Amino acid sequence: MDIRKVISQMTLEEKCSLLSGSDFWHTKAVERLGIPAVMVSDGPHGLRKQDTSGDHLGINDSIKAVCFPAGCASTASFDRELVYEVGEDIGDSCQHEELAVNLGPAINIKRSPLCGRNFEYLSEDPYLAGEMAASLVRGVQSRNVGVSVKHYLANNQEHRRMSSSSNIDERTLREIYLAPFEKVVKDAKPWTVMCSYNRINGVLASENKRYLTDILRGEWGFDGYVMSDWGAVSDRVKGVEAGLDLEMPSSGGVNDRRVLEAVRSGKLDEKYVDLAVERILTVSERYLMNAKPDTVWDKEAQHEAARVAAGKSAVLLKNDDGILPVRKGQKLAVIGQFARTPRFQGGGSSHINCFRVTSLWDEWKDRGDVIWADGYDLKTEEPDEALLAEAEKAAAGADVVIIMAGLPDSFESEGYDRTHMRMPRNQEVLISRVAKVNPAAVVVLHNGSPVEMPWIGEVKGVLEMYLGGQAVGGATADLLTGAVNPSGRLPESFPLRLEDTPCYLNYGGEGNQVNYTEGVFVGYRYYDKKKMDVLFPFGYGLSYTSFAYSGLTADREKMKDTETLTVTVDVQNTGKVPGAEVVQLYVADPESSVFRPVRELKGFDKVYLQPGEKKTVTFTLDKRAFAYWNTDIDNWYVESGDFLIQIGTSSRDIVLEKKVCVESTDKVPQKFDINSIMLDILKSEKAMQVMAPILQQMKEGMFGGQDPESADSAVTDDMAQAMIKYMPLHGLLTFGGGQITWEMLEQMCQAMSD
Ligand code: BGC
Repeated sequence: MDIRKVISQMTLEEKCSLLSGSDFWHTKAVERLGIPAVMVSDGPHGLRKQDTSGDHLGINDSIKAVCFPAGCASTASFDRELVYEVGEDIGDSCQHEELAVNLGPAINIKRSPLCGRNFEYLSEDPYLAGEMAASLVRGVQSRNVGVSVKHYLANNQEHRRMSSSSNIDERTLREIYLAPFEKVVKDAKPWTVMCSYNRINGVLASENKRYLTDILRGEWGFDGYVMSDWGAVSDRVKGVEAGLDLEMPSSGGVNDRRVLEAVRSGKLDEKYVDLAVERILTVSERYLMNAKPDTVWDKEAQHEAARVAAGKSAVLLKNDDGILPVRKGQKLAVIGQFARTPRFQGGGSSHINCFRVTSLWDEWKDRGDVIWADGYDLKTEEPDEALLAEAEKAAAGADVVIIMAGLPDSFESEGYDRTHMRMPRNQEVLISRVAKVNPAAVVVLHNGSPVEMPWIGEVKGVLEMYLGGQAVGGATADLLTGAVNPSGRLPESFPLRLEDTPCYLNYGGEGNQVNYTEGVFVGYRYYDKKKMDVLFPFGYGLSYTSFAYSGLTADREKMKDTETLTVTVDVQNTGKVPGAEVVQLYVADPESSVFRPVRELKGFDKVYLQPGEKKTVTFTLDKRAFAYWNTDIDNWYVESGDFLIQIGTSSRDIVLEKKVCVESTDKVPQKFDINSIMLDILKSEKAMQVMAPILQQMKEGMFGGQDPESADSAVTDDMAQAMIKYMPLHGLLTFGGGQITWEMLEQMCQAMSD
């Protein structure tokens, strides 16, 4: 279809009508011109396809589909290929169900463990979130189905999500909150982006030209369309002008009419309407030209794939005395309702109507060597003595006790935040009571975000399954028995307690104002800088085997920031069973003129190794790996100097390190004015040429000709220097002995400035 030609044949009414959905899930058709409607659907870890009368919060049923591990879990795999394959499966199911766009992935940074939607989000680290999201997007879109990367931008809490303003300084926005979106847009070319409900620095995301147009399209080259989150549109006319192409869901024609009137009255240039229509139709056409409704959606095969994915995503957090894997012949007690009804996905718009769910009970019910007990009632937080007594009895007779625990549905969901990080009291009591009877206890967790673990010292093992998708029961069995070796790593820090979290003092905000005062110090960037103890650090996870690192190389010791650095490191499986290691590369800038985190993740790779096998992992680092966002030049900037390339098993465990000197090719122009201080002037060669003679004169004037080095001088040379450095230029008017005038200062400023 020649889209521009078709647009030229449309009436203004028709064009405006295309700027919003026809119902909850469809774009509009223009039958006269042969433009069909297409359907979009949630997302992100499977399909939630509802009929047109649906809702958008997963309250009503949707078609039976396959639920893959949620974002919290799949990101823990640190496995780009795995999420690519999950993406392919999701893409196939979309093709089969005639869906043009899958509404995901949701990639907002986990600013606080309290965000109700963290289970869907990927990480506290922008590099990891961006990389994993880009792989998923490539996978889905390889099937000629679009994604909608959401929720753009800075939607990091559910509390007041439709009205709050995320107030964030520019450097933090660039380094932390924009970065994952930037990565996905540049590397994976998503077909659509979904704008969020909230405001950014006071302006609604749905009306925010800076983010929807200037940065997204202007800087990053996004060529798809932006749709609104469901109901995120306030002033539709402003939105069209800002670059919000499609309003979802339908607003019953109300907003289309407003746009029409705005064009007619000259308030809105028609070119914005044309542009939005062109973008929407281009993306729909991309799908329509490649629609394959006869694509096979093999749900059985996808269920197996979901099991594999959950197995590769789980994180082994504790394994004292090698309690796991359980050995043949050991008698097991499995305690906890989650054994029969596992929690494997979160609530809200991502909620999938699974065609099957496998629990640990389904997997092991026929084994004669397992005793089962409920332990707690998921409907209440109150401990139940009868259930506890039954659990203690089961535990007493077992070699290993598996306690299936975590967060019930009501504890975390889209639409509201958590208020604390604890597990329900009845589960905490259960763990302690059972571990007292039998210390050979392992806790298997089902949760979408970190929990406090006051009982951690009482048990021998902890296996974090996160929300592992519909095949979580099978995957849990695989991991507990050792059929699968745990290989996930934490994509977020687990703090000891809520009060330790970087934004504890201002998370949620005052009224609608949420000030991100922790700046770039989110997650491990904060805990590492403050040298705080955490329960488990970012990047942490155990295995049933062991790994050794050696031979870190870098192909240069010195480089310009326009060059790339190739780093290699060898990793070997030194244990007895096959396993996978996540090799993590961090970059540290030990000396910097701006506040920087101790280290930041700039590369990772997951390597599957047979016992004894060794592989070389290669990373390529470019300017971005060393840069921070410099607000003086409004760009990425590398400060010349030494950097450390660090290989770690977590942000807290660096095993190898190498120094490289990076030289900047950018110049930060220096500007001086009447209020600039000596300290900054002293640092600039150019400025000092102007300033040196004046300083000399001034010194003489200040000390009345007395030798400052003489023993009875009240102010020595060093002291004078130390005092003078904070003096602004205008001080010369006062202390210049009447020799320096305002006009002279203005001239000096000009001469000193670049
Ligand atoms: C959510 C989106 C979702 C949309 C449609 C909204 O409430 O924030 O993530 O895609 O509903 O269900």
